[in-house]
Amino acid sequence: MTTQEQGREQDHWWRDAVCYELYPRSFADGDGDGTGDLRGATARLDHLARLGADAVWLTPFYPSPLADGGYDISDHTAVAPELGTLADWHALVARARSLGLRVLVDLVPNHTSAAHPWFRRALAAPQDLRARERYVFRPGRGPDGLTPPNDWRSAFGGPAWTRVPGGAAGPAAWYLHLHTPDQPDLNWRNPEVAAEYERIIRFWLDQGADGFRVDVAHTLFKAPGLPDAGPGQHEQPDRYHLLPYYDRPELHPLYRRWRTLLAEHPGGSRGGRLLVGEVILTDQRRLARYLRPGELHQVFNHPYTETPWDGRALRRVIGESLAAARSVGAPVAWALSSHDAVRPVTRFGGGETGLRRARAAALLTLALPGAAYLYQGEELGLPQAPVPEDRRRDPLWPMSGHSDPGRDGCRVPLPWEGQRAPYGFGPAAPEQSWLPQPEDWAALTVRAQQGDPGSTLELYRAALRLRRAHPVAAGDRCRVAGPDSGAWLTFRRGRSLRCLVNFGPGGLRLGPGHRILLASSPVQDGVVPPDTTVWLRPRRAQPPSASE
Ligand code: NOJ
Repeated sequence: MTTQEQGREQDHWWRDAVCYELYPRSFADGDGDGTGDLRGATARLDHLARLGADAVWLTPFYPSPLADGGYDISDHTAVAPELGTLADWHALVARARSLGLRVLVDLVPNHTSAAHPWFRRALAAPQDLRARERYVFRPGRGPDGLTPPNDWRSAFGGPAWTRVPGGAAGPAAWYLHLHTPDQPDLNWRNPEVAAEYERIIRFWLDQGADGFRVDVAHTLFKAPGLPDAGPGQHEQPDRYHLLPYYDRPELHPLYRRWRTLLAEHPGGSRGGRLLVGEVILTDQRRLARYLRPGELHQVFNHPYTETPWDGRALRRVIGESLAAARSVGAPVAWALSSHDAVRPVTRFGGGETGLRRARAAALLTLALPGAAYLYQGEELGLPQAPVPEDRRRDPLWPMSGHSDPGRDGCRVPLPWEGQRAPYGFGPAAPEQSWLPQPEDWAALTVRAQQGDPGSTLELYRAALRLRRAHPVAAGDRCRVAGPDSGAWLTFRRGRSLRCLVNFGPGGLRLGPGHRILLASSPVQDGVVPPDTTVWLRPRRAQPPSASE
C-alpha cells in the first residue's frame, strides 16, 4: 500500500465507527416461531439508527444444524430457512442503507458444519482423496490407531479429534475439530478451500455486504506435521501464540489477498469495505501484526474485553493497545461484550454495582479513539440471564463436563416492550421462545427506557451523539494519565472532550473550569462518585485537576 493510499485510509468510515452486533435469533422474531429472523431484524433496525450506530454486523444466519449457535454452517451462501430468504436479506440491506447503516456479515473459514456437503462426501467416500483433503484427516496413533493423531484439545473441552471407523471403503481415521465434533476444521493448505472462500466472499459482496467479521481468524493454518501442543493448552492465554494451531505466519498472506479482493471487487460504497478479525491472542504486538498495512482493517481487542473492572489493569491494556495499533497505523476496535462473553453488568459484579460499572465502562470505551463494537442488549444494561439447565443450547455446557454454563445467558431474546415475556420480541407465546427470557425484565425494555434520561439506553444514545460531535483527528495521540494506584484515569478525546473514570474507592473532586457533558452516574457538588465515568468539556486549555 502506498503512503498516499494510507493517507486516504485515514478518512475511512470504519476507523472510528460504532458497529452494533446483531444476533439474529435473539434480536426480533418476525414470523412468530419464537426465533428471531431477518424480517424481524429489518422491522426493528431503526433502533440502531436511533442509537447512533454506523454499521451492523450480523452473526451467522446461514443454514446450520445449530451445533454451535449457527457457527456450524452447512451452506455459506444461503439464508437459513427458519430465518428467511435471500429476498429478506436484500430487504434488510435496503433498510440499512436507508438508515445510513453499513452491513457486515460473519465469515466462518476455520470449519464447516459436519452437515456440509463437502464433509458428508468425505465421510461417505473415504477413498475419495479429494474430498478428504478438504479437511484434516489423519490415521490414529498406537498399534490399532485408536489414539488421536496428537494431543490437541478442543477450545470447548475434550480432544480436538473424532474417529470415524473404517469399513470396506477405507481404513479408520480421525478428523480435526478445534471446536465441536460437528465443526470439522478445513485444510487451508488445500487451494480448493481458499478458492471456495473467495467465492463466498464475492457472493456476499455481490449481495450488498460492506464487509466481514472473520471468525477465529487466528486458527486457519496448523503447523506442518501437526506437532503435539503440550499440557494446559486453553488454560494459558498468554501462550496462545505458541500453540501449533494458532497464529501461524501463513495467515498473513491470506488476509492480504482478501483485503485486495475486497478493494478490487466491483461495487462498494464510499469509504471502503471492512475486514474485522476475531483474533484471540493476548499479546498486543502479535495482534497488531494482523493490522499491518494491506492486512485486516481491524481486530477485536480481546484483551480489553477480558479485563476486569480494575483501573490499573485497564490503563495498562489501553496503553498497550493504543501503542501497538499506532505502530502499524491502524485503529483499535474496542468491545465490552459479544455473544461469547458474560454480560458486563454481571461480569463487573452484578446488581446495582455491576450496572453502575457497566455504564462507566461504556463511557470509557466510547471515548477511546478507534472503533467500538456494541453487542445487542448492552445498550439496555441487560445482565446475564439465568438459563435453566434443560433449556441450555450452548455446546460449551456438555463439552466442559457441565462445569461451564455456556454462553446462552447473553443470547436470550431482547426485551422491546411490555410487562412480561416475550416483551415484544415477537408474536409467539413465551414458552415457544428458543431461549427463555427472565420474568423481571419489564423495566429493561427499549420502550421502558426510552425518554428516561437516567436509563442506560439514553446514556448510550447521548454518548454516541457526543462521540460523533467530538471526533479524533487522524494522528492525534491519546495519552492516558492517572495515579499508579489505578484509582482513576483520564485522557482527552479530540480537542474538546476529556474522559475521567473514577474506579474508587473515594469520590473525586473536579477541578474548577470543567463542564460535565455526560456522566454514567449522578455527580453532585463537583464530586465524581466511585465507579463513574464523566465526559468533561474543559473551559480552559489546561488539563483538569482531578483530586482525590
Ligand atoms: C467464535 C464465535 O464467536 C463463537 O460463537 C463460536 O463458538 C466459535 N468462534 C467457533 O466458530
